[in-house]
Amino acid sequence: MPAGTHTGGGRTGGPRQAEPWWRDAVCYELYPRAFADGDGDGTGDLRGATARLGHVARLGADAVWITPFHPSPLADAGYDIADHTAVADAMGTLDNWHAFVDRAHELGLRVLVDLVPNHTSSAHPWFRAALAADEEGPERERYVFRTGRGPGGLLPPNDWRSAFGGPAWTRVPRRDGRDAGPARWYLHLHTPDQPDLDWTRPEVVAEYERIIRFWLDHGADGFRIDVAHTLFKAPGLPDAGPRQHEDPHRWHLLPYYDREPLHPLYRRWRTLVEEHPGPRGLATPAERLLVGEVILTDQRRLARYARPGELHHVFNSPYAECPWEGRALRRVIGEALAATTAVGAPVAWVLGSHDAVRAVTRFGGGEKGVRRARAAALLTLALPGAVYLYQGEELGLPQADVPEERRRDPLWRMSGHTDPGRDGCRVPLPWSGTEPPYGFGDCAPDRCWLPQPGDWAALTVRAQEEDPGSTLELYRAATRVRRAHPAGPAARLRMAGPASGEWLTFRRGAGLRCLVNFGPGDLRIAPAHEVLLASAPVADGIVPADTTVWLRVRER
Ligand code: GLC
Repeated sequence: MPAGTHTGGGRTGGPRQAEPWWRDAVCYELYPRAFADGDGDGTGDLRGATARLGHVARLGADAVWITPFHPSPLADAGYDIADHTAVADAMGTLDNWHAFVDRAHELGLRVLVDLVPNHTSSAHPWFRAALAADEEGPERERYVFRTGRGPGGLLPPNDWRSAFGGPAWTRVPRRDGRDAGPARWYLHLHTPDQPDLDWTRPEVVAEYERIIRFWLDHGADGFRIDVAHTLFKAPGLPDAGPRQHEDPHRWHLLPYYDREPLHPLYRRWRTLVEEHPGPRGLATPAERLLVGEVILTDQRRLARYARPGELHHVFNSPYAECPWEGRALRRVIGEALAATTAVGAPVAWVLGSHDAVRAVTRFGGGEKGVRRARAAALLTLALPGAVYLYQGEELGLPQADVPEERRRDPLWRMSGHTDPGRDGCRVPLPWSGTEPPYGFGDCAPDRCWLPQPGDWAALTVRAQEEDPGSTLELYRAATRVRRAHPAGPAARLRMAGPASGEWLTFRRGAGLRCLVNFGPGDLRIAPAHEVLLASAPVADGIVPADTTVWLRVRER
């Protein structure tokens, strides 16, 4: 088997397919603080994650993307990194990291590290040095410091808004006797504790290359790149205009989104990961993976990041945000396939993440939400391309209702308490037992990273393993059947169904047909089809509303 290919049958064997492993990979997003707690302090950690990695392997994943585990004051749940080449005390040690990576590799899972290049924490030594330095000091050039507008520079330098609400600028505190001129400000597209780096500075470029090499040397098989569309800003930092975050169709026009110099940067990183020797990784250098979080609604702009020599995957944010609506989904899927096929890349389908309201809740909540989320899972896993699953999605977890006093997400505060924030999808996973902490760790429930709901007993991994009809068993079966039925070239996918969007159908490879019934009516399956898998019970060939079935086409 040539390097960079896989058998298409995973560890269990199956039809040969000369494709790089990542083209149709199933990747699992592991959010360590909420995955499993190994030391009983209520916060998930690397030891806990290592002990539970078997769950990810049994799910049929090819790779695990672990979100930041580095030292951080946790102003944004770890996406505010104070030291990019170390492990946070609460997460463990570098030895724990090695144990995690080795166990993952033993299980056949590649490991992706989260790279956060847009900003550092304000506690990062670079930013501390910048604040301590003189206004024109070289230490300030690594970040985006500017003089304010208006008398005394008391207004922010431009109208940019933080993604979490409020201005994207914070005034630099005055130091007695040293700052006499107009006020200076620094840029932060997220919280004030996440100052944006200046990517036109060579030392910033060099530092991230060092970070990439470090994690490759420590076993990483690739990277997920955080807000990969915002690193460069338009020269002169022009105003962005009104409604900058409210109008997604204009995002690619924002002066801090989707700038051209991103592309040469990612080409450089692609070469770096492919050329850096790899003593520890599971993937050979040529098989390493870069996946970008690029939040743009225009599929063609998105696909530009996955052109040959750039990123392997780009999360498909339009699909992740699409409602459970046949017509809209059909359009998004068609556009995503057309745009990525044109550049020779696979789509990276996503239903959920640590930033999104869980599918069960987003699709209507309650029984209806569960039913739709299960149908959406089978739709997603049938599509050609890669899939990213977010921990807990395989358990059909709903968004948890986190009481105000326990909320951690800065979005809650920065939105002026209008947005509850993302904590509801970040509560600890339920593993076993009938009450919190449901086997998450050996900790008192009130000490958990975020509180778990009291009614999750039926949603634990253990409970679901004992129920063949559970969402967990559906996911496991789906990844198994998916492996046995490689999708083949995405360009060949033809979707059929009425323009009204009540249902849609397409073939995955030669032998499998996926049929989604969005309702409201039932559908009858043609007798030439045998049901391989269904997201809800199908009796007498009747597929009820909000159901996806995978059908084997019987040869006549
Ligand atoms: C990404 C992360 C999100 C974080 C933001 C700022 O969108 O997924 O959790 O808040 O970047 O780093």
